[in-house]
Amino acid sequence: MPSRTAIIRGLRTPFAKSGTVFARLTALDLAKMAVTELIERSGIDPKTIQEVVFGNVIPSVKAPNIAREIVLGTGLPRKIPGYTIGKACASANQAIAAASDMISRGYADTVIAGGSESLSDIPILFSKNFSDALVTASKQKSISGKLGSFRKIRPKDLAPDAPAIAESTTGLTMGESAEKMAKENHISREEQDKFALQSHKRAAAATASGRFKDEVMTVVVPPSFETVVETDNLIRAETSLEQLAKLKPVFDRKYGTITAGNSSPLTDGAAAVLLMSEEKAKAEGYKPIGYLKSYAFAATDPFDQLLQGPVFALPIALERAGITLKDIGVIEMHEAFAAQVLSNIQWMGSKKIAQEKLGRSEPIGDIDPTAINRTGGSVAIGHPFGATGARIVTTVCNELQRTGEQYGLVTVCAAGGMGVAMVLERE
Ligand SMILES: CC(C)(COP(=O)(O)OP(=O)(O)OC[C@H]1O[C@@H](n2cnc3c(N)ncnc32)[C@H](O)[C@@H]1OP(=O)(O)O)[C@@H](O)C(=O)NCCC(=O)NCCS
Repeated sequence: MPSRTAIIRGLRTPFAKSGTVFARLTALDLAKMAVTELIERSGIDPKTIQEVVFGNVIPSVKAPNIAREIVLGTGLPRKIPGYTIGKACASANQAIAAASDMISRGYADTVIAGGSESLSDIPILFSKNFSDALVTASKQKSISGKLGSFRKIRPKDLAPDAPAIAESTTGLTMGESAEKMAKENHISREEQDKFALQSHKRAAAATASGRFKDEVMTVVVPPSFETVVETDNLIRAETSLEQLAKLKPVFDRKYGTITAGNSSPLTDGAAAVLLMSEEKAKAEGYKPIGYLKSYAFAATDPFDQLLQGPVFALPIALERAGITLKDIGVIEMHEAFAAQVLSNIQWMGSKKIAQEKLGRSEPIGDIDPTAINRTGGSVAIGHPFGATGARIVTTVCNELQRTGEQYGLVTVCAAGGMGVAMVLERE
């Protein structure tokens, strides 16, 4: 029998609006903090860790394998290898899945997985003309030769080229794709704002009640160590439907319904989980917060509805777990946009979609949008792309512990039309 993967515990940095408290930190800085404190809080002997697997969507050009850099930068034994996964917003889920596969095969019994992202630290590129000139200049021996390399450079070549959050196939940004979904599925502005309000109110209540203490660490921000960040700084306890209704649409200014208020914001943060084989966890007396029962990744055509990937992944994950949606007590759906969550839910409950898109006779099942994301979601808490999957897996496991429910579900949509569903269990 393959070994079951135990989630011993999970931990994340607070999530912060990009350009604010973590603006001077890199994804690696954030990841190192989360991993160091995860190891400390779990009391594990670092020598027993056999691999670090980390998700990161916009990698550093200088140190693209963030997982190995975490090992080298945190004082972990240097013999621990590490590799980095880029699967858009499902990167941390894929990191957890990959680590779990190693554990199931018996190739490892203790692995750290997670993800990190800094949208304050994105690589800004030069134009092709200017970068060609820089390369040519670097090969010249004389000053005049170096200067001559820039002879054909025009002012427009000096304009920076920042990566867009856009699909290379469709050319649409995530926001434009969500806007298309809202229109095609007739998801109203009011429904989206109501869902966004729920996200903020619940995240604010969970923070105030101390519910996140187990999964969110305090960061004393280097290099000055003057700023102490204890909680997520994007949650708006005071927001209201009236305030949300006043915000202008961003991605289709004239006819759109998607605003800064009902979208996940650009965010900095890192999250990590400690995974072990069930046998080792039990032998060493750990009390896992949950177990990974099954997972499935799937994809749809980006030219259709880009962020519907979870709808395709969910029935496969449920089948692999041998349960149905009705058996699930805790559901966490990543909120890229309120319109995306509501569209996912609409498709999951539709017989027509089941038959036409999923090749199934019956719908996956009905989900009540007010029954999911009980401690808020990415709209309020934020969404550092590479880290979100590990945040949600931890939150679901802690909710299973808190509520005594047996099964939990995580879904995450991702660029490229991809999606993931993971089934977790308490015992
Ligand atoms: C939507 C987006 C463009 C907004 O960016 P932004 O304009 O920098 O957002 P801000 O935080 O400045 O918010 C804009 C305004 O709305 C207000 N606002 C935002 N959320 C609010 C809320 N819940 N309640 C009340 N007001 C709110 C802000 O206070 C701000 O007001 P101001 O202009 O008076 O200061 C950006 O967050 C984004 O690109 N999100 C999508 C990210 C994405 O694609 N992720 C991939 C998912 S797959």
